[in-house]
Amino acid sequence: MGSGKFITLEGGEGLGKSTNLHFIKDFLENNGLSVRVTREPGGTPLAEQIRCLLLEERSESVAEQTELLLMFSARAQHLKEVIYPALAQGQWVISDRFTDATYAYQGGGRAIDVSLIQQLETWVQGTFRPDLTLLLDAPINIGMSRMKERVISDRFEQEQFPFFERVRQAYLLQAQKNPDRIQVVNANQSLTAVQSDIVSHLLSLLKK
Ligand code: TMP
Repeated sequence: MGSGKFITLEGGEGLGKSTNLHFIKDFLENNGLSVRVTREPGGTPLAEQIRCLLLEERSESVAEQTELLLMFSARAQHLKEVIYPALAQGQWVISDRFTDATYAYQGGGRAIDVSLIQQLETWVQGTFRPDLTLLLDAPINIGMSRMKERVISDRFEQEQFPFFERVRQAYLLQAQKNPDRIQVVNANQSLTAVQSDIVSHLLSLLKK
């Protein structure tokens, strides 16, 4: 694989992921890097179709196995078509969410056995993991109040407080288990302070 690095951005809903994604892209480009921004679920035409299946509100209830397998189906396609080729060409790839989201939403939120997620992770990704994961974290009420200001809400945004609390705790557990890779960024501070924390993590990665 080339010299590109893989950065993922994670966190609950309404914590400024999109704003900070653009900020990271601009910061890396200003440092002379070629950057590819992508997202999960999605990132390729087929994976974006899977995203629609996953996020659409529907009357039929979705089995948790279906949801989990669709997440990894989209991821397999995304890795093969976008992430691996871009890294091989020396690009830096930033993904709005990746497998930590599966541990958080399907593992934490839906309470699926974590060992099943680990097995799928190994099957789909082998030992491939992000070089850096930035986890935007804040108490649930902060993100939920910002989320309510949005008009459109998807199948996940329909969930209630306890679901998002489980998601948050599962994210924090992932961070505890992977302290070298996952950096927790306090999202309950000014945007300037959030971005200065992000810059310090990016600078450490650039020095590696
Ligand atoms: P987004 O709102 O950040 O674009 O992400 C779409 C939704 O998909 C979000 O509610 C989190 C959810 N999701 C999972 O449940 N599992 C996953 O593995 C990923 C990548 C996203």
